[in-house]
Amino acid sequence: MKLKITETVIRDGHQSLIATRMKTNEILPILEKMDKVGYHSLEVWGGATFDSCIRFLDEDPWERLREIKKRVKKTKLQMLLRGQNLLGYRHYSDDVVEIFIKKSIENGIDIIRVFDALNDFRNIEVSVKSIIKYKGHAQGCIAYTTSDVHGIEYYVEKVKELEKLGVHSICIKDMAGILLPNVAYDLIKKIKEVTNLEIQLHTHATTGIASMLYLRAIDAGIDIIDTAISPFSGGTSQPSTEAFVYSLKGDKKDTKLNVELLSEIADYFKPIKEKYREEGILNPKVMDVEPKTLKYQVPGGMLSNLLSQLTNQNAQDKYEDVLKEIPKVREDLGFPPLVTPLSQMVGTQSVFNVLMGERYKIVPKEIKDYVKGLYGMPPRNISDEIKIKIIGDDKQITERPANLIKPEFESLKLEIGKLAKSDEDILMYAMFPDIGKEFLEKRENKNTTKIIKMEIVG
Ligand code: CO
Repeated sequence: MKLKITETVIRDGHQSLIATRMKTNEILPILEKMDKVGYHSLEVWGGATFDSCIRFLDEDPWERLREIKKRVKKTKLQMLLRGQNLLGYRHYSDDVVEIFIKKSIENGIDIIRVFDALNDFRNIEVSVKSIIKYKGHAQGCIAYTTSDVHGIEYYVEKVKELEKLGVHSICIKDMAGILLPNVAYDLIKKIKEVTNLEIQLHTHATTGIASMLYLRAIDAGIDIIDTAISPFSGGTSQPSTEAFVYSLKGDKKDTKLNVELLSEIADYFKPIKEKYREEGILNPKVMDVEPKTLKYQVPGGMLSNLLSQLTNQNAQDKYEDVLKEIPKVREDLGFPPLVTPLSQMVGTQSVFNVLMGERYKIVPKEIKDYVKGLYGMPPRNISDEIKIKIIGDDKQITERPANLIKPEFESLKLEIGKLAKSDEDILMYAMFPDIGKEFLEKRENKNTTKIIKMEIVG
């Protein structure tokens, strides 16, 4: 069987290296060529691409998706979804989740990769059901991390849970680049024993082991890997597509991708990367190998955030102390995987614990909500001692967090009113209330100006 490739340049590739700044007019001209390469899929959409379109680029992300779809006829389009959070930063009601998925598929998405930061699959249940209902491909994720509870057995059980939900394929999401090659080999072998679903592997080259990881995963029978065309590969992005196409040439896993086209595609993206390098948007630091991530099991992005947080407080000398505090806070909180939004939450709590000289003297609201169960179930129960320290006598919930949210699509529609011309606009407002509304207002003003101009000319 050939190894299948998902090309990430249009989503994770530029998200990881140039803060998701690639514009639609830089993406569109190369798509017809990319469609001919033979990729399994193109990853084109996700939270950061949506956010960046409206926040920085003054572009309608839905329009981008439709324009991409017009040019990519054969290859499947893929997106990343944060389960009940969709592309936003809170849990949404089930009706909003369903409408969002319906609209994403209608506008061109084929494969939706869904994850929950805690691997609490009650938070992806409604997404998966909706994807199946609207005839999309539902890919369920296990978010990879290490801890006392996160062994191979844990993940094998999680895969069984995903299969029960009805997903069409599985993704092992190694967002921090900490999955070690030999661990991956065993993990994939064990997963293959319990499911016939295709398995895809996602990683980042941050720690310098990504290519070794992929090679071992290929030995173990991985079906699909995520790679980025060379100019947008390496560093905090994925390993390069070409590296795997050439390495497997003539092998029974030969990707069969067209290398001539790949070379032309790389030539197309090179000057775009150069432009962002000159503008300073490509920070050279993202290309650094960061083995500290392996030592502390803390994602690279989180390390740089911490350092800047501490610098702002004039407390750089506390960096090592905070790094040592992070695993303790994580253990107190039941070992949440360090992925958005939990990486930021655990980081901030650790900073407070160190700077205040007393643990949990200050606790941000998000951490309180987390302990109350509003994000879902922690991988391991939180001890009574920590619970009392953080939320006192407040009640914990054990049900699915979104059960507490009433249907909200109609009220969101009323709130945004005439500014929204479509369900897509309402969803934009739902996920990004401030910048989404601003975007829609700006568009409204532009249109009014156009009409006035036409009237004057007419
Ligand atoms: Co990623």
